[in-house]
This record gives sequence, structure tokens and C-alpha cells, in this order.
Amino acid sequence: MVIVLLGPPGAGKGTQCKRIVDRFKLTHLSSGDILRSERTAGTELGKKAQSFMDAGKLVPDDLIIAMMSGAITKAKGNCVLDGFPRTVVQASELDRELERKGNSIDAIVNLVIDDSVVENRITGRRSCPACGAVYHLESLKPKVDGFCDKCKGQSLTQRVDDTPDVIRERLKTYHQQTSAVVGYYTGAGGEVLDVDADRAIDAVTAEIIKNLESLILAK
Ligand code: AP5
Repeated sequence: MVIVLLGPPGAGKGTQCKRIVDRFKLTHLSSGDILRSERTAGTELGKKAQSFMDAGKLVPDDLIIAMMSGAITKAKGNCVLDGFPRTVVQASELDRELERKGNSIDAIVNLVIDDSVVENRITGRRSCPACGAVYHLESLKPKVDGFCDKCKGQSLTQRVDDTPDVIRERLKTYHQQTSAVVGYYTGAGGEVLDVDADRAIDAVTAEIIKNLESLILAK
């Protein structure tokens, strides 16, 4: 089963994907998280991606397509895609790749939210470098300020691309290059489930899960 989660930076893709994978027993494939691990490991891919990520630009399609194709194969085609596809080229290549594997996309969820809301979400985000858990200074506080609930003693950190200047660039990139992916899917006759992401985390999750359950059970 393949589920695609679309939406601008800070819409809550990562937060919601963690809940979707728990419910449907899928692998969470976040292109951003994979790129960050490659950077931490100092691989060739990580080095090539670094300058694009730090500037809020997209990493070139060929690098991303090869990386995600390998990850989907490893997940045996049972995954939630978070942050991929991000261009029409990536979307059409994903379709071809899945078709070659006798697979296809089961559901596409699009988190809809205004730019003015996501800036505060991103600047307030803190993450655990050990387990990847994501918190927010106001909406999702850890039990002890600045420390991960699960990895006791582990300080939370802020992503290097979560600064106001880079956030503005990421939003610009989203509107110029990524929002067209929704049109790619609807134009091809696909059903895209628009979800209002400007609500409490649990309310957004409840709507996504309810819709995915009826969509997937109907197949
Ligand atoms: P990536 O890591 O994918 O970043 P992004 O798309 O900008 O998305 P974010 O991770 O910032 O946000 P999110 O929607 O996951 O929100 P989250 O759940 O964390 O990509 C980083 C970079 O890698 C890109 O800029 C690019 O350079 C490169 N890249 C990645 N994929 C690529 C691709 N396919 N092609 C080319 N380049 C690529 O939530 C944000 C915060 O809000 C958290 O603190 C959370 O707790 C809080 N929050 C979440 N939901 C709610 C809610 N409902 N109410 C209140 N707070 C909430």
C-alpha cells in the first residue's frame, strides 16, 4: 500500500505520517529525514544535498528519484511518502516506478494551510536528534522543557533550515514548484483528499484516518 502526503513546509506532514504508519502498519519514508541522515553520515548524496537544503531550494530531481526509489523498494512498496513527490517530474517518475513494480498509489492526502500559520509552526519546532520525535514550543511541549520525553536526557535541537529567511524561501519554492503536484494528480483523474490542517493535531489525524479507512476498505 502506498499513501502520499502532500502539503507545504510546516503543514504537519511528518506529525501526521507518524500516526498514519502506526494505524496502517506502513513504513514512513520522509525524503527530508533521509536527506538529513545522509548529511549526518557525510555521504556523497548528503554533501550534494546540503547547499540546496540550507538555501530552502529543492535538491535536484535525479538525486531524489534514485534515493526514494531505493527506499520504496526496501519498504517492499508498503509506505507513506512524506515530502515526495515534490515536482511534477518526481510525480510522473514515481508513477512509472510503481507501475514497473506492479504497484500504485492507494491514497493522496493534501494538507491545506495558510503560509501565515506555518511560519510560527516551523520556528517553534524542536526535534530529538536521537529518535526523531518532533515537538513544538507551544502546541506540543515535551514534559520537561528542552528534553525529549522518550530519550531521557537528550536535548532537543532546531533544524538549520528552520530560520525565518529560509522558511520564506521554502514557502516560495513550494508555491513555485510543489503545489503543481496536486494538479498533476487531479489532472490524471486521481482523487486527492484535501484536509484542513489549521486545526488541532488530533482533529487533523481523526479526519485523515477516517477517510483513509473508508477509501482503503472500499478497495
Ligand atoms: P522536509 O524535511 O520535507 O521539510 P518540509 O517539507 O519543509 O516540511 P517540514 O518537515 O518543515 O514540515 P512538516 O509538514 O513535516 O511539519 P511537522 O509535522 O514537522 O524537507 C527539507 C528540505 O529537504 C527541503 O527544503 C529540500 O531542500 C529537501 N527535500 C526534501 N524532499 C525533497 C524532494 N522530494 N525533492 C527535492 N528536495 C527535497 O510540523 C511542524 C511543526 O508544527 C512541529 O513542531 C509540530 O509539532 C507542529 N504541528 C504539526 N501539526 C500541528 C497542528 N495541527 N497544530 C499545531 N502545531 C502543529
